[in-house]
Amino acid sequence: MSSQTLREARKYEEATEKMIQADERPDFHLSTRVGWMNDPNGFSFYNGKYHLFYQYYPYATYWGPMHWGHAVSEDLLHWEYLPAALAPDTPYDRDGCFSGSAIELPDGRQLLMYTGVLTTTLPEGGKRDIQTQCIAVGDGVDYEKYEKNPVLDAKDLPEGSSIYDFRDPKLWRKQDGTYCCVVGNRPADGSGQILLFTSQDGFDWKFKKVLAENRNRFGKMWECPDFFQLDGKQVLLTSPQDMFPQGFEYHNGNGTLCLIGTYDEETDTFTEEHDQSVDYGIDFYAPQTILTPDGRRVMIGWMQNWDTCNMHRQLDEELWFGQMSIPRELSIRDGRLYQQPIRELEQLRRGEVRYEDVCFDGTINLDGIKGRRIDMELEVSSEDEEKVYQRFAVRFAQNADYQTSISYRPYEEVLKIDRKFSGSRRAIIHQRRSKVLSEKGKIKLRIILDRFSAEVFVNDGRQVMTATIYTEQAADGISFFADGRVRMNVVKYELAAG
Ligand code: FRU
Repeated sequence: MSSQTLREARKYEEATEKMIQADERPDFHLSTRVGWMNDPNGFSFYNGKYHLFYQYYPYATYWGPMHWGHAVSEDLLHWEYLPAALAPDTPYDRDGCFSGSAIELPDGRQLLMYTGVLTTTLPEGGKRDIQTQCIAVGDGVDYEKYEKNPVLDAKDLPEGSSIYDFRDPKLWRKQDGTYCCVVGNRPADGSGQILLFTSQDGFDWKFKKVLAENRNRFGKMWECPDFFQLDGKQVLLTSPQDMFPQGFEYHNGNGTLCLIGTYDEETDTFTEEHDQSVDYGIDFYAPQTILTPDGRRVMIGWMQNWDTCNMHRQLDEELWFGQMSIPRELSIRDGRLYQQPIRELEQLRRGEVRYEDVCFDGTINLDGIKGRRIDMELEVSSEDEEKVYQRFAVRFAQNADYQTSISYRPYEEVLKIDRKFSGSRRAIIHQRRSKVLSEKGKIKLRIILDRFSAEVFVNDGRQVMTATIYTEQAADGISFFADGRVRMNVVKYELAAG
């Protein structure tokens, strides 16, 4: 039985989505059906399709009381919207259905676990959000909230843990058929921790252990955890709020942290060995992963940044705001997290244009190299290895007024993305630098553009830099610049999902 609140949201989104033309959205990245989108939720494979839910406020292009939007896909690139799945409509989630995850139950139903938010007035005055974990069960379209919600609340928390910052359950089923989930929380030291809970049936949950502790190393509250095996290691992804930059890591204030280590399942002990940023660009947060039926670990993140999302566009004039990143296949190489666009993307390629051994300095254009929905691979090196070039740049989404650029300085080993001239009227963060090591200036870049974004995969996915750009679509030029002689191979494809 759906509530009035959910019925209204479903009616509203169906009517309003018609006012958005297909070419006003990204083509193969999922964007919100209408209104506002943030985190990916409930990323799962169910009844033969990928399901992706998302933090959703249909009625405005600003964050508001959270619903769950819903879309399905067979290849993670062509998406079909389904009706909104959850609305804030019960006494325990009246102020929002926050992030969570999904799993298939042995009886064939789909179980969603999410954070219920209830704003309460404190005895000493002021208001705080109480956060609890809740469940809804359904058939892939309609979901019924569990009568015993919330399933985890204040009484399940270890001593000193916050009841106000307790959110974003990510669940999985173990080999033995029992269930686990990790949830973000704040301990007494005010930073972050990840709590592990277990359940026999997916409904009745018990606290097991503090799985990981921030101890004020990486920002404060740890949001949106994900925990999985990858290439013989164990990975904890989490998105800390309020991070300090450290060298070339963690420049985003709110960004995503990857901890790689080992996991002893007997004692539930996670031992950290390595930490790094997940994305070195500007817009990436709160990712979730899935294990695909053919065994790949694929990650999708919210392609935005909390610090700039409310200023980036003239929001009042728009009907949608919020997109997901390209789904990325994960692997571990040399102890680091690597990311590659999912291989299904290659099926969207059309019209190959290829250049080999282009040697130049100054600015050049190449016939047929342009576009705003493209997959372009560049191999850049010095024409003469004895004389390494000073700087290389590729500029795209370019016309007489606008451009976004990626540039590399081999002597500093710094790669920079710069969208200052992308058409933004706001003095927000528009540049990000990343340390990219190279030998004699040799680097590989794979650039994916989809109308309103650029994702740059560096050196086979060792690093990724992501930025949204809202430049007018007529700006579709691409040019190359070199200070010093550069040798370059280029292959470019148009990408079209439609
Ligand atoms: C992360 C986040 C989550 C929360 C959701 C609310 O971006 O703050 O922690 O569940 O967004 O929309």
